[in-house]
Amino acid sequence: MTRVLIRDLAQVATPAGAHAPLRGADLGRVELVEEAYVLCDGGRIAETGRMRELGALDGDVVEVDGRGRCAVPGLVDCHTHAAFAGDRVDEFSLRAGGASYEELHAAGSGILSTVRATRAAGADALAEAVARHRDWMLRAGTTTFEAKSGYGLDLETELASLRAVRAAGGVPTWLGAHAVPPEFDTADAYLDFALAEVLPHVVGLAEAADVFLERGAFDETQARRYLSACRDAGLALRLHGDQFTESGAVPLAIELGARSVDHLEATTDAGVRALAGGDVVGVLLPASALFLGRPMPPARALVDAGAAIALATDFNPGSAFCESLPLVCSLACTQLTLSPAEALAACTVNAAHVLGRADRKGRIAPGYDADLVLLEVPDWRYLAYHLAGDLGVEPIVGGLAALP
Ligand code: NIG
Ligand code: FE
Repeated sequence: MTRVLIRDLAQVATPAGAHAPLRGADLGRVELVEEAYVLCDGGRIAETGRMRELGALDGDVVEVDGRGRCAVPGLVDCHTHAAFAGDRVDEFSLRAGGASYEELHAAGSGILSTVRATRAAGADALAEAVARHRDWMLRAGTTTFEAKSGYGLDLETELASLRAVRAAGGVPTWLGAHAVPPEFDTADAYLDFALAEVLPHVVGLAEAADVFLERGAFDETQARRYLSACRDAGLALRLHGDQFTESGAVPLAIELGARSVDHLEATTDAGVRALAGGDVVGVLLPASALFLGRPMPPARALVDAGAAIALATDFNPGSAFCESLPLVCSLACTQLTLSPAEALAACTVNAAHVLGRADRKGRIAPGYDADLVLLEVPDWRYLAYHLAGDLGVEPIVGGLAALP
């Protein structure tokens, strides 16, 4: 297989160490090599180091000119809702005029309006939409993405969503408990259906299950029932928790050994203490808080307490129409008071950990997949510094240029 040498890079920046998740002071340690190269072989990283230490290479090697560019690990988006059709631009305009996201949800627009559009689209159009969203993410530097179902909420559309995510190269999560669809009178009746009729088909297709634990969606008892059944079926667990109200998601995530609890905008000191030092990763979604004009999650307190955190976009049509992890890194630094190094680790190695892939993704080091992002900037920290700027992103996946 072809070897690829990316040479004369101004900087190679990667989260330090070899373990995951990174937490506390380790989260902010970036290894930086200037005047550097990365050698890829068979889709993996074979070597990285200083140009002046690069030995002679025998045989065929394709060279990529890295002059004036910095390399960071391919970004990992561990929380998106990319499997949707249609848009919510009308709702966005209403919210700009003062309507609240929760009021719109309660009135049957919000998530349920995307459920109507996604059901109506059909499997082919849905697959096209997911591939389009994947391309948007890739252009922003995301080389690994998770995407949830949750806009079908019937057997056919949930399975079509998960298959579309797989076909686009994403990591599928079954968000079977996102909202109660209109054909069911109660959340419990819907869960009876979802667990009996949908879950058996989801096994082998999705890697994890997720639930929206929130007033107006599913309560703690319902979330425990749904997640326990999913865990017993072999799925990893995720939760949407504490987005608007602190409703028991953090203790439930810990009790059930979930991989993550995501959002946390309403998490208080008790939740921060509960996550400190534990295995459940707090996934922070500042673009969603910004898009909805909501308070930011207590990121600094979580990191300082020793909790493991990750950053993700929450890309979806209603609460975060944003596919850019670089923008999320900017928000992490300006709104969550994380450092650029902490932001980088949170959307690379720690996000890979949430997806069960930290042994292969999220670092530029020998043995890892050769997924990198080349940025045409003088310093890798422009990733966060240049707010919504043109970073000259060139994603490399498996050692190969990933954009035409
Ligand atoms: O993570 N809060 C629940 N789910 C999504 C939003 C979905 C939507 O508004 O369509 C979220 O914010
Ligand atoms: Fe979400």
